[in-house]
Amino acid sequence: MHNFIAKVLNLKQIVTILGIESSCDDTSVAIIQNNTLLSSVIANQDVHKKYGGVVPELASRAHQSNIVPVLHEALLQANLQLNDIDAIAYTRGPGLLGSLLVGSSFAKGLSIGLQKPLIEVNHLQGHILSHFLSEKDEQKEFPSFPHLSLLVSGGHTQLIHVHSPYRFEILGTTIDDAAGEAFDKAAKVIGLGYPGGPIIDKLAKLGNPHKYKFAKPQIEGLNFSFSGLKTSFLYFLRDQLKTNPNFIQDNINDLCASYQNTIAEILIEKALKAIETTQIKTITLGGGVSANSEIRKRFEELKNKGIKTFIPKIKYTTDNAAMIAVVGYYKFLNNDFSTLDAAPLARFGIS
Ligand code: KG4
Ligand code: ZN
Repeated sequence: MHNFIAKVLNLKQIVTILGIESSCDDTSVAIIQNNTLLSSVIANQDVHKKYGGVVPELASRAHQSNIVPVLHEALLQANLQLNDIDAIAYTRGPGLLGSLLVGSSFAKGLSIGLQKPLIEVNHLQGHILSHFLSEKDEQKEFPSFPHLSLLVSGGHTQLIHVHSPYRFEILGTTIDDAAGEAFDKAAKVIGLGYPGGPIIDKLAKLGNPHKYKFAKPQIEGLNFSFSGLKTSFLYFLRDQLKTNPNFIQDNINDLCASYQNTIAEILIEKALKAIETTQIKTITLGGGVSANSEIRKRFEELKNKGIKTFIPKIKYTTDNAAMIAVVGYYKFLNNDFSTLDAAPLARFGIS
């Protein structure tokens, strides 16, 4: 049934895609028409805050209670009915299996009930292609192909050669922690809440980024490493606390600013190296960590070197279904549909 519907729908000029995202702790549904966003609704899960990290079992339960009201709100905001949808795009992975199961089962149920085709989406491709979303009446330039993408999130840190909306080639990846983990783990050490990235960002605004120096990794090629930085931070604090037990409280802003500055430097240095190696001078930024103000500023400054940069709006940095829908739209154009037996994947490579 899927292929038949797809052929009929391909004759249409305007394609309406419903996107569903549930890979971690955000339940989100969005509706787009071609590249234009009609609605995007996200239900966050505060339940994890007191545990200092996402609790998988609580996340999947929260997805179950949120998904129906989130869908209704997305339809209401888009002023559409379920029958107006041409296809359902959902996150197949990577992510927490229990969370993915809720979104994927829901998407499959809708596909059967509505007799509409199903499209599976890689969450990481969603972050990368989020640059191809525009708001209603917005005049926006999209990145040209090929381009590079720096993807920085809680689970991934990758430099990707984006050949087309369908072909992604990993040029470099982290060999240990992701950039988001480097933020979150350091935040934990200095007693800040979870997720620590946004808190470090906020405190760093009041601090001196050059006050402290932390060891930067010497990794060949385009790969990243953040575990050494975390250890360097830890040892530095241990030494300082011996002489001043209040060292962290006394210097919290400078600590955050200096640590954040080091992460930004590591990322920008590798991005420049990728540009130099490939001679591709267009680069996009994506993933949760791309909300970081220092990283955004440094990325913006690459323009002074003749590099074309695309920085996502803050609302597209965190997990959302709009980015899933846009990948769905390109797959729809390519007649790339999914079957009901596609199981969610906790690990799901981008290429
Ligand atoms: O992409 P995302 O929402 O989820 C994953 O797919 O991992 O990324 C979450 C990560 C967390 O580690 C969080 O601390 C980090 O993004 N993050 C930030 C900022 N906002 C979110 N890190 C640094 N500065 C921020 N402003
Ligand atoms: Zn993400």
